[in-house]
Amino acid sequence: MKRLHGKSALITGSARGIGRAFAEAYVREGARVAIADINMARARETASEIGPSAYAVEMDVTQQGSIDAAIASVVTEAGGLDILVNNAALFDLAPIVEITRESYDRLFSINVSGTLFTMQAAARQMIAQGRGGKIINMASQAGRRGEALVAVYCATKAAVISLTQSAGLDLIKHRINVNAIAPGVVDGEHWDGVDALFAKYENRPRGEKKRLVGAEVPYGRIGTAEDLTGMAIFLASAESDYVVSQTYNVDGGNWMS
Ligand SMILES: NC(=O)c1ccc[n+]([C@@H]2O[C@H](COP(=O)([O-])OP(=O)(O)OC[C@H]3O[C@@H](n4cnc5c(N)ncnc54)[C@H](O)[C@@H]3O)[C@@H](O)[C@H]2O)c1
Repeated sequence: MKRLHGKSALITGSARGIGRAFAEAYVREGARVAIADINMARARETASEIGPSAYAVEMDVTQQGSIDAAIASVVTEAGGLDILVNNAALFDLAPIVEITRESYDRLFSINVSGTLFTMQAAARQMIAQGRGGKIINMASQAGRRGEALVAVYCATKAAVISLTQSAGLDLIKHRINVNAIAPGVVDGEHWDGVDALFAKYENRPRGEKKRLVGAEVPYGRIGTAEDLTGMAIFLASAESDYVVSQTYNVDGGNWMS
């Protein structure tokens, strides 16, 4: 039996990267998946590549109207919502003395407000349905400790871990499990952008930072999006019904907590 048979899932920011890998994994496990992304062209492309169990939904997690419309279209398309993955996020990097309010506001708006208000809209729908649900928030090893150049992103991911704890405690009475995944370093377009920023601020050749952080992972290599799918399926399935408010490190051994 497929572990997510007949379930309806929405994954924010799943046009590419980790969210896309989760969408593919959820479809393999029997779910219908909304590829919800601000980049609608890429979301459509991704959905058609995954197949008929995936469909594109336009969604900007910084806009309440867009969040509500995305949830409503999932309910229309798939008859309800059982699983939400709050995956959309933005990264930025700057020394403390160079951080701009614009960057701070943008990162908090997507990574923190986007996570909270998408979680809220999904929870309202799940409570109305009365059959429980699963909410998975994407945190990061960056949320476990500070990093000299990454203050704002680290703070957003610490906030995601905290929101996961509070929301998990509040929503479990409705049989809605809220948990999080904290990846370490995951190869892909996202880290190519991170590497370019480190190249600028640490005066390195492009590619060097990614190679160095990958070499430091205790497992022996940089992570892939597929390394995370086992945890994403577990937290979306009935196997995790008694798991509440946790953040799991899936990072090849980078962090222990
Ligand atoms: N890649 C890593 O090394 C890594 C490590 C730790 C945590 N994470 C976290 O995992 C998650 C996925 O990371 P990724 O590497 O796949 O990122 P990514 O940058 O490859 O993908 C992010 C997706 O979010 C979409 N998006 C951006 N703004 C949006 C908005 N306002 N509304 C809706 N969608 C929006 C983008 O279009 C993109 O498709 C993020 O939460 C990230 O912080 C990633």
